[in-house]
Formats: sequence, structure tokens, C-alpha cells
Amino acid sequence: RGSGLPHPPGRLPLLGDVAELRGNRPFQRIVDEGRGLGPIFTRKVLGTEITVVSGADLVAELADEQRFSKKVAGSLREVRRFAGDGLFTADNHEPNWARAHDLLLPAFAMSSMRDYHPAMLSVANKLLARWDVAAPESTVDVPGDMTRLTLDTIGLCGFGFDFESFERTEPHPFVEAMVRGLLHAQNRGRRLPGTTRLYRKRDDQHERDIELMSEVVDEVIRERRASGDTSTDDLLGLMLNSDGGPDEVNIRYQVITFLIAGHETTSGALSFALHYLAKHPAVLARAQAEVDALWGEEDDPQPRYEDIGKLRYVRQVLNEALRLWPTAPGFTRAPIEDTVIGGRYPVAEGQPLLVSASLLHRDPVWGDNVDNFDPERFSPEQEKQRPPHAFKPFGTGERECIGRQFALHEATMVLGMLLHRYRLIDHARYQLRIKQTLTIKPAELTLGLVRREPRE
Ligand code: HEM
Repeated sequence: RGSGLPHPPGRLPLLGDVAELRGNRPFQRIVDEGRGLGPIFTRKVLGTEITVVSGADLVAELADEQRFSKKVAGSLREVRRFAGDGLFTADNHEPNWARAHDLLLPAFAMSSMRDYHPAMLSVANKLLARWDVAAPESTVDVPGDMTRLTLDTIGLCGFGFDFESFERTEPHPFVEAMVRGLLHAQNRGRRLPGTTRLYRKRDDQHERDIELMSEVVDEVIRERRASGDTSTDDLLGLMLNSDGGPDEVNIRYQVITFLIAGHETTSGALSFALHYLAKHPAVLARAQAEVDALWGEEDDPQPRYEDIGKLRYVRQVLNEALRLWPTAPGFTRAPIEDTVIGGRYPVAEGQPLLVSASLLHRDPVWGDNVDNFDPERFSPEQEKQRPPHAFKPFGTGERECIGRQFALHEATMVLGMLLHRYRLIDHARYQLRIKQTLTIKPAELTLGLVRREPRE
């Protein structure tokens, strides 16, 4: 029996929405195919029907913590194989969630960003050094370098560990294992019944990837222990040195979680922002005027912590990039008890409801030209006029992204520094394509660079 809700055309009785089984871009497909289907619809993959919610009014209801909570379902459930009951993949009732959340929350408060700022800046300077070498003769691999930056930043700030990504030609092995691991989690639920044997090689590889991720993390922990340091109160220090802190296994899960959650999404957000800036000269000019006003004619400004909050337009650019392409493109909620949403759609206790942030961010509350890149949408005047739950790139409620301030501080600073230093050249007339490994980023985006004279 179907739910009676709209669904994509061409559904077959046993296979479901066959288009879902093709390709590697299930979230992208939600954006392409979900748009005509209204604020709530279903997708069926094999035997499993998933309800997708994207209307702003309905999402506002799902944000009510009295009636709904996070559900670890689908691909995220698969991620538990390597992230266990770490913060991202823990069920609400698992004791390790509240334990780790309460312990680590202060380390993500705005005031803690002041402590991370110098390490963030040191990694940003490595990126600039690399891009200085590339400009103006060659082009840069934007998502690749943003991933180097964000991995090294979370490694250093969270765990005092240097992945040295800018000193390597290939990504750190952790990144390769992680990307394959996330893809595996994403695609596993879409296998046809009885085909396990066909996937043996990939499943074996997955085991090895999990092993490698665990080894890298164990080395991070070992290094800290060996140093005899018990006073550093970064994320790792807090976990290792607090009374009643998480146990060994859970610490490993948390470190894997932070390494994954802490860099893929931020790197995608920076990449999309750079893509749109290269395509929108007027926006780029305005953002550059903002950084020039702050850092004047300095050749090599070293932003202070206080500067970052002043980069308001740069922040609007990032928000607008996250609106169009929320790099964690969805999250799942479930009713705490049977209820009705939108006054007419019955939903059962525990039933997963996938919120598509990508579609929510293109809801009519955003106006007529929802596909246009326009950072003005995040001006204080326009923000005031929008319903409160229309923008959800960081999830919602108590399970909202703990690293939000961290990501925004890092990304705003780096974007500001890049814009101050370079003209961005869209040398390949890049057409946006999305690469998805649970998170999304612009596939194969390269840019040319020319050093700017300050105030050019
Ligand atoms: C949770 C997005 C950066 C750590 C989440 C969720 C979203 C999200 C949507 C909620 C997922 C759900 O409800 O299932 C993003 C985006 C980022 C970003 C778009 C960058 C632009 C970061 C960073 C860190 C981080 C930098 C760590 C340093 C986490 C953790 C959770 C989380 C640990 C789970 C929180 C909990 O359930 O207690 N993130 N994130 N994220 N994020 Fe982020």
C-alpha cells in the first residue's frame, strides 16, 4: 500500500522509483525531481519508501522539539559502522550522546573560536603559500585544496594533530578511506536483494577503510598520550582528561566523527562560494571592497580574531552558497508519537521524515528567482522578513551542528583572505556539476588566479 503522497513518475511495483537506483547522486536527484512534487512526497527504493519533506511550513513543524526528534536512518545508519555512537550518528537516547554533547559544547562556543583562531590562520597561510605558487601560470583544484585546508584545520584545532596535507601531493590516506567509506554508506541501501556476493570486493575494501580510519585516529590519541600532556583542553584533551568522560571506544568514534563532520562540509561550502564568486563579478567586487576596507593595502594581512565578525558581506556570500547547495543536503526527523502534519498528513511514531535542505532552500518563501545566487537575501532586512525555519544548512534543535561557529569562523576568514589576495579567473567556463559522497561539492572545479594589487 502506498502512502497516497506524490512520488516521481515511473514507479514500479517491486523496484520502486528505478531512477533512484542509477548513479551516485541521490540527493541531487531529489533536487531535480522533487521540485514538481510539492512540499511532501515519497521516494521508493526497493522495498523502502522514504518520505521527503521540503515545504517551509512543514519543516517548521518538524523543528518542534516537543513533537519530533532526530532519527539516525538510511545512509547515516550505515555510517555507524565507523562512527558508532559518536555525536553525529548516536541515537537520542544513547547515553554517550548527552555525555559527549555536554562535555564538548563549551569547546564550540563562540568564545572558544578565539583559541582556535591562530591555528586556523596558520593553515590558511599554507593554502595561500600554495596558491601563490600556482598564480598566475597554473590553475588550482578548488575542492581538493579546500579539503586539505579544512582537514588540517580540524586536526590541529581539535586534536593538535597535523595531517600535513599541503606537504603532500596526494590527499592524506584518511581522506581517501573516508570518501570511499561515505560513498559505501550512501550506496549500500540501494543494492538489489540477493546481490551481496557481487559486492564482496567493495565490502572488503570498506572493512579496510574502516581499519585505516581507526588506525589514524588511534595514532592521534597515542601521540597525545605519549606527550604526557594532560592540560591542553582541545576536543581530545577534554575527552581524555575529564572525570566521567567517554570511554576509549567512544573517544575513537568521536574523533572519527569530528574529522569527517568537521571538514567535508566546510570544504564544500568554501568551494561553492568560490565558484559563485568567480561567476558573479559584482558580488566579488563588493566582497573585495569589504576586505579591502578592513585590511587596506597590506600585502599579507594576518586577520585578527575580531576582524572575522566584521566580514558581514563575505558571510552573506557563504550563507547564500549554503542555501543553494547545503553541503549536508538533508537530515532526518521522526515524530515522537503518531501525529498529523500540515493539518492533513498522518505520520506515525518513529517514521523517518527526510528534510531536504536543498529543496527547502528553494521553497517559494525565498521569492521568485530561487535558483539565482544573490547574497542580498541574507541582508539583515531580508532575513527579518523570512520565516525562522526556512534556512537549515546546519540541521535543527538540540541535534543541530555543534561545529557551526567553527565552520563559519574558519570559512569566513579563509574566504576573506583569498578575496583580498587574488582575482578569480573562471578559465574553463566551468559548468556546475555536483559530486556527492553523502556531502556535496562542485565536481572538478578549477580556477585561475592572479595576485591583486591591494584595492585593485
Ligand atoms: C551535525 C552540517 C561543519 C560537527 C550537523 C548537522 C548538519 C551539519 C546538517 C545535523 C545532522 C542531522 O541532523 O542529522 C554542517 C555543515 C557544516 C558543518 C553544513 C559546514 C559548513 C561542522 C564542523 C564540525 C561539525 C566544522 C566540527 C568541528 C558536527 C557534529 C554534529 C553535526 C559533531 C552532530 C551533532 C549532534 O548531533 O550532537 N552538521 N556541519 N560540523 N556537525 Fe556539522
